[in-house]
Amino acid sequence: MTDRDIDSFNARADRYDTDLMGRRFHRPIQQAMVRIAASIEASPRAILDVGCGTGSVLALFSAQYPEAELCGVDPAVGMLRVARARLGNSPRVDLRNANAEALPFDDRSFELVVSSNSFHHWASQVAGFEEIDRVLAPGGHFILTDPFAVGWRKWGARIRPHGRMCTKSEVETMLAAAGLELLRWERVSIVGPLASYFVVAAAPDLASTTRAPLSMPG
Ligand SMILES: C[S@@+](CC[C@H](N)C(=O)[O-])C[C@H]1O[C@@H](n2cnc3c(N)ncnc32)[C@H](O)[C@@H]1O
Repeated sequence: MTDRDIDSFNARADRYDTDLMGRRFHRPIQQAMVRIAASIEASPRAILDVGCGTGSVLALFSAQYPEAELCGVDPAVGMLRVARARLGNSPRVDLRNANAEALPFDDRSFELVVSSNSFHHWASQVAGFEEIDRVLAPGGHFILTDPFAVGWRKWGARIRPHGRMCTKSEVETMLAAAGLELLRWERVSIVGPLASYFVVAAAPDLASTTRAPLSMPG
C-alpha cells in the first residue's frame, strides 16, 4: 500500500461511513459478512478484523457476539480514530495501528478472522494470508470480501494502479499456499454493475496437516 492510499483513507475517515459509497456499497457488504459469519461460527471467543477501518464490522459483531473479544488492525490512524470513537473503551475491544502483513497477535489467537474491502490495498497479499493462517485457531474461519476481478472487472482490475484485484483462481492459489482451504465463493450484488465476492476459508486442522514453509514474494 502506498502512502497516498493511507492519506486518502485518513482524509475520508470522518465521512467514510456516511457518504454514498459507505451507505450503498460498503454497508451491505459488511452486513452480509456478519450474516455469513453467524452461519458458520456460533460463538467465537475472539474475532479479528484485518483492515477494520472505522470499526463498522466490529460494531456489528459486538451485537452479534456479545461475549467475544473484538480486535481490529488498520494502518490508517484516521480510520482507527473513528473506530475508537464508535467502539468506546470496552475491555473486550482491542484496536491496533498495524497491517495485514505483520499482525501483532500470538499464533492461533482467533476463531474468526474477517476482512472487508481491504484485501486489494495490501502491499503483500501472500504475507497477509500467511499471517491470517498463523493467528487462526485450528478449525477457525476466515471470511474475506473484496471486489475480485470477475466478469468485467477482469480487465478493469488490470488497469488499476495497484493492480491487486485478484481472480478467483489467483485468490484460491494464494489461500492454498498459505495453508487455507477455500470453502465457499459467493456473489453479493450491490449497486448496478458493482459486485463483491465472498471467500470463506477454513484454517487447517493442525493435528492432521503438515504445512510446508512459504517463501513466495509479495
Ligand atoms: C475500503 S476500506 C474498508 C474498511 C472496512 N473494512 C470496511 O468494511 O468499511 C480499506 C481499509 O483497508 C486498510 N488497509 C490498507 N492497507 C492495509 C494493509 N496492508 N493491511 C490492513 N489494512 C489495510 C485501509 O487503511 C482502509 O481502512
